[in-house]
Amino acid sequence: MKKYIVANWKSYKNTTQTTTWLNHWPRQQELQEKLAGLEVILAPSYPLLAAAALAIQERRLSLQLAVQDVSAFGAGAFTGEVAVENLVGLGVSYAIVGHSERRRLLSETPQLIADKVAEALRGEMRPILCMDQSDLAEQARFLSSKLREQCIVAYEPVTAIGSGRAQDPSDLLQIRDVVRQHFHSSPLLYGGSVNADNIASYLKVCDGVLVGTASVDRQDFFDLLYAAI
Ligand code: PGA
Repeated sequence: MKKYIVANWKSYKNTTQTTTWLNHWPRQQELQEKLAGLEVILAPSYPLLAAAALAIQERRLSLQLAVQDVSAFGAGAFTGEVAVENLVGLGVSYAIVGHSERRRLLSETPQLIADKVAEALRGEMRPILCMDQSDLAEQARFLSSKLREQCIVAYEPVTAIGSGRAQDPSDLLQIRDVVRQHFHSSPLLYGGSVNADNIASYLKVCDGVLVGTASVDRQDFFDLLYAAI
């Protein structure tokens, strides 16, 4: 199975910076073959999606797009929300849902997050369900088993996010058992201070990584990819 590398750009970058970042994506044949073992997913903020989709299409890059959030409501009178209907035609294949920053800064509840997972699936996007506590079952308690099965689980301990204090990779073996119990065969990603120096150790124990800080600068991210292949 391919390893997932998710680049979560959070609220960084504008359209020009997005296009520049993608125009520098390496295209050498040899590298492309190595990258074929990875599912690289770019999650820019909403206004950057169209520019990213265009650059990916024009340069035929092996990159998938994700949104960083999705509205729990469909199209309608929901000012400021981005519904799955608004995303049609942008080539978005994945949706990050329940990121720790949204759970904590925007008080997103497990019920709201479950509704977002259902919406992502309705919009034909695979949910990347983030959880920032080791009690995954508690944070996912409103998700039916049918919804759980379709999620990619991203375990991102709150203390590891953006802190430079990544979780010890050996701790993930226990998390993997919990995922098997509650999410069956869902892939498990790790997130929290992943960089070029530590990515290889995470890829040995889980199915991929969610990268914030080290995905913003192009060179940092390419270094990370080279370390992953
Ligand atoms: P970080 O962020 O890599 O900067 O720790 C990860 C995330 O928030 O998804």
